[in-house]
Amino acid sequence: MSLEKVYDVPLEVAAGAHITEALYREMYERSIKDSDKFWSEQAERFVDWFKPWDKVQDCDFGTARIRWFEGGKLNVSYNCLDRHLAEKGDQVAIIWEGDDPDLDRTLTFRELHEQVCRFANVLKKHGVEKSDRVCIYLPMIPEAAVAMLACARIGAVHSIVFAGFSADALRDRILDADCRYVICADEGNRGGRTVPLKTNVDTALQSCPNVKTVIVVRNTGGTIDWDARSVWYHEELAEASPDCPPESMDAEDPLFILYTSGSTGKPKGVLHSTGGYLVYAAMTFQYVFDYRPGEIYWCTADVGWITGHSYTVYGPLCNGATTLMFEGIPTYPAPDRFWRVVEKHRVNIFYTAPTAIRALMAQGDNWLETTDRGSLRVLGSVGEPINPEAWEWYYHHVGRERCPIVDTWWQTETGGILITPLIGATRLKPGSATRPFFGIVPAIVDSQGNVLEGDCEGVLTITRSWPGQARSVFGSHQRFFETYFSAYPGKYFTGDGARRDADGYYWITGRVDDVLNVSGHRMGTAEIESALVLHDSVAEAAVVGYPHNIKGQGIYAYVTLVAGISPSAELEQELIQLVRKEIGPIATPDLIQWAPTLPKTRSGKIMRRILRKIAANEIRDLGDISTLADPGVVEEIIQNRANRS
Ligand code: WT7
Repeated sequence: MSLEKVYDVPLEVAAGAHITEALYREMYERSIKDSDKFWSEQAERFVDWFKPWDKVQDCDFGTARIRWFEGGKLNVSYNCLDRHLAEKGDQVAIIWEGDDPDLDRTLTFRELHEQVCRFANVLKKHGVEKSDRVCIYLPMIPEAAVAMLACARIGAVHSIVFAGFSADALRDRILDADCRYVICADEGNRGGRTVPLKTNVDTALQSCPNVKTVIVVRNTGGTIDWDARSVWYHEELAEASPDCPPESMDAEDPLFILYTSGSTGKPKGVLHSTGGYLVYAAMTFQYVFDYRPGEIYWCTADVGWITGHSYTVYGPLCNGATTLMFEGIPTYPAPDRFWRVVEKHRVNIFYTAPTAIRALMAQGDNWLETTDRGSLRVLGSVGEPINPEAWEWYYHHVGRERCPIVDTWWQTETGGILITPLIGATRLKPGSATRPFFGIVPAIVDSQGNVLEGDCEGVLTITRSWPGQARSVFGSHQRFFETYFSAYPGKYFTGDGARRDADGYYWITGRVDDVLNVSGHRMGTAEIESALVLHDSVAEAAVVGYPHNIKGQGIYAYVTLVAGISPSAELEQELIQLVRKEIGPIATPDLIQWAPTLPKTRSGKIMRRILRKIAANEIRDLGDISTLADPGVVEEIIQNRANRS
């Protein structure tokens, strides 16, 4: 018997929804048994094609070959803009809400179209050609969407770097993708403070000789340095022609690169396609959020992450939806900011991350009482498992028991949502992402790769392709293959653990690899370790995650110093600053423990399993430590642990 709480689909929700339970079952079955036909219909329904495809799918996980709608021709910006002009030209496409609550603006589809065409011409003028990579390092302002769509219009491949990443992280990404153009702002605004974006670009570009042009959006008007490579966005835009025909792209041409962390090495440039990606982003947007024409939709994710790509920009705009972009943070100027924005703009669909929900829940219910959230109809969650307490608070207090919650599981590599409730079809269980979306066939496997049946727990894999799936890792298809298709041959390895209950519902249990999820931000422990060992005083470092009330996971670093160096508060600060400089503030270690020796096997491998347990304060159940070269070191590490509760 299951002890979980179950929320039924209210009759009124089921009645009006795009997908009911009977339809879900029928469509899901068709998506598996008659896959080509199913996806043809969806591709025709959600996207306008200049030329139809020759072959729906050509996918082989054995060689990591993934192709959808080959031979088809389309343009993403045409689908997000031009085709809406006749009927929705004067409808608002983007509502922008500034960090400062007194600042907002809107862009209609016609206005957005004009800006995108002008900016596409600016890019061309500076020499950007089809398949060139363009780095975007912008805050959450409409110009970020303009830049993305302008790249898409001319067939350039954008690579957005989250504006919270440091100059060094930006440099690495510019170099890896060989970007020759950078689009940035003078500064960003975040919680009443400014972020020195142009200055970071200047620092990064000291090691990027190939960058020809930096296009700078004037956002704060703050003082910045200028050089021969820099031009102002607004000056260039004013001079450019508003007429720019969309480039006809192949379905399999790349649309963008987005860097994400894995368990080893530097972040990978995940490469997404044009046709399959757009079909999948547009279709999931409509079905998962049950979007209806005229509704106001708000996804709080930054465009620096995949959620911002698929569900702030491409999915909504392809459907002709009004999408809200918010520059600020949930707690500025006060912890009711989200709800004030919902009230001010009459938001109907709201999609955010568990870490934000937990942070606001911790501030108390008073912050909810002064706002009217009656416009809300659907709530969404993404980025990490949502704990049932946060789910219940979101459901009962934020949504006042009127709004179903869609807990959507997916990844940068999946392009769009793979496991999710559909509001008219799925009974909800707090903490479960529930059931697979159309065309998605998950398999839970044990460590030997055996597929487990029924009620079970193991590693989550996906056994067949879907159109939104990443096509490669930029610059290394071999790495793409090895990372995702070699662990369990014939299956896509997600890196997540999952349980499936007797009702067939999936419960994501978290990463099974050395990837952390800190406030919904994905980070490799190896990256943070590499940053720490750059310090002359550090001999070795091991980083693990530990449970954190608000962030989901916190960053715990065990650091071994070079012989003769003593720990100090000053050194701790230097290490923290070093990580912030190498990666960015999001990677700041929460706890540092000085560890004269780390627990290692006889072959010299650090036993992270033990370090994770100690960081989590689970010291009574360390498991088998007999394979350690020196089991004695464990006691010392336990004695000095930094996370006592
Ligand atoms: C990892 C992917 C997908 C957009 C944001 C993150 C975790 C994501 C959920 C969820 C449980 C989730 C997984 C996944 N994750 N959504 N609803 N329930 N876990 O994208 O940065 O590529 O991270 O986020 O661990 O593997 P990402």
